[in-house]
Amino acid sequence: MSGLHQITRVLDFSLGRARSQEKPNHGGFQHFRHFFRSFFLGVLLAAPAHSAELPSPLTDDDFIAFDRKQAALGQLLFYDRILSGNRNIACSTCHHPVLGTGDGLSLGIGEGGEGLGPNRTALVDDNRIKKRIPRNAPGLWNLGTKELHTLFHDGRLSISDDYENGFNSPAEEWLPEGLNSLLAAQAIFPLVAQFEMAGNPKENEIAGAVHNRIDASWPILAKRVRVIPEYGKMFVDAFDHIDEPGQVSIAEVGNALAAFQAIEWTSFDSPFDQYLSGRKAALTDAQERGMGLFYGKGNCSSCHSGKLMSDQEFHAIGLPPFGPGRTRRFDPMVRDVGRMGESDRLEDAYRFRTPMLRNVELTSPYGHNGAYPTLEGIVRHHLDPDGMLAKWQPKRLHFPTHRGWNQSISWSIRICVKWPGRPGFGMSSGFHFPIRKFTDLVAFLKALTGTTSVSSPSFGIPDRVPSGLPVDRP
Ligand code: HEC
Ligand code: HEC
Repeated sequence: MSGLHQITRVLDFSLGRARSQEKPNHGGFQHFRHFFRSFFLGVLLAAPAHSAELPSPLTDDDFIAFDRKQAALGQLLFYDRILSGNRNIACSTCHHPVLGTGDGLSLGIGEGGEGLGPNRTALVDDNRIKKRIPRNAPGLWNLGTKELHTLFHDGRLSISDDYENGFNSPAEEWLPEGLNSLLAAQAIFPLVAQFEMAGNPKENEIAGAVHNRIDASWPILAKRVRVIPEYGKMFVDAFDHIDEPGQVSIAEVGNALAAFQAIEWTSFDSPFDQYLSGRKAALTDAQERGMGLFYGKGNCSSCHSGKLMSDQEFHAIGLPPFGPGRTRRFDPMVRDVGRMGESDRLEDAYRFRTPMLRNVELTSPYGHNGAYPTLEGIVRHHLDPDGMLAKWQPKRLHFPTHRGWNQSISWSIRICVKWPGRPGFGMSSGFHFPIRKFTDLVAFLKALTGTTSVSSPSFGIPDRVPSGLPVDRP
């Protein structure tokens, strides 16, 4: 518990007792209480700049050295709809650079939809897709760091030797061999996810095969790509062990996608990064005050810790629940229990992975379900989860509605404050930290926005892709 929190708690306690001895309707007392609290806060916040250590700066050595030729191939694959069952969606549809490498939506619209970001629609009538993606599409910044060991909001992919193949993943022992990194292993999962890229079982050979066993469709997809002559040649050029296109497997597809994402979206030249490297003038006064809170009384760095600004652990911060849910077979109701869905440990209920924060300004909406479209909103939420839940307005979501869209599915998870184990239930009381001037914190978060790979990335959006299918552009 932070010192400040302790003091305000003590203060509340003694004032609370005083109040209970009071006659009702003495409004003046509240005033006094507020004055007292702000006075103490003022003194405390003015005191030390930051109590926790600042992290050391990121350097090139913190990143895996990916191959540029493989990345150039990965760029085309990332934007190519050829990797989806029905050839109608690419990685870029949900992770687009013009939308900060996310999709700008609280919960996205997967295969079968049309358009990009806020303009994406779910079509109508018989063509209507059935379900929204249950979680927010995260940004893809700095995923090539060596330190990173866990991906996805619930951490269902991590570096581990549980299955003697390097990874603990949803494919368990059926994960293909040859994937060279965490990011490469991740890349092959959207391809087999029904609502993201694979499509429905009877619609195409990929979805049909996934239905049999998760690894059945990867060879079919690899073949689909390598028989396109332009891709076949690029694979042979980019991978030493590939002598002819027939040898290309899904592992090379994953490795190329990883190389592209890592090189394209490495970003550690923000004002904060400059500050860490010794250029103190890089931060404005408000940003520096915000940094003081982040690494001090705000306690943010207890979870958003270290060079990556994430402990890569799981915490319940009680975001307002909504969406179609990630319900498991034995769940008594539609819900998304977060980490517990993976670990089966009750204490993990509603815990989600702490996100890294570089370029967070660009990756709205925020949280695993995109419950807050603004940084102000998500920061306020951390400081007062119950108060914010009470005030939360679904209409602020980035959640396009359409004629013919089955809204009721999107609202399967309802806000039920009386749930036992409601998200946020187990949240640390350290959060009830009355910083009214949270604007400094937001200013600091905006000092995490990089420059080079944000404005002029190495590869950019390709003019065309080898399959000839359309490329997502704004
Ligand atoms: C329909 C939208 C959609 C498509 C298409 C899609 N993604 Fe994602 N992506 C998501 C969502 C949603 C998540 C978070 C899922 C979760 O954590 O449960 C995610 C997570 C990720 C992550 C993990 C990020 C992190 O911080 O944990 C990476 C990396 C990623 N996607 C890359 C890709 C690649 C590569 C492709 C193409 C092969 C792709 N995505 C296609 C929506 C999409
Ligand atoms: C107890 C651990 C913990 C502490 C302390 C904490 N956070 Fe978080 N933060 C999280 C988790 C976990 C999430 C993601 C929650 C989810 O997806 O459900 C998150 C999400 C965020 C996000 C949204 C990022 C995104 O990409 O969606 C921001 C911004 C943020 N935190 C800032 C802060 C600030 C500022 C503070 C200090 C006031 C803070 N956090 C303190 C754990 C923490």
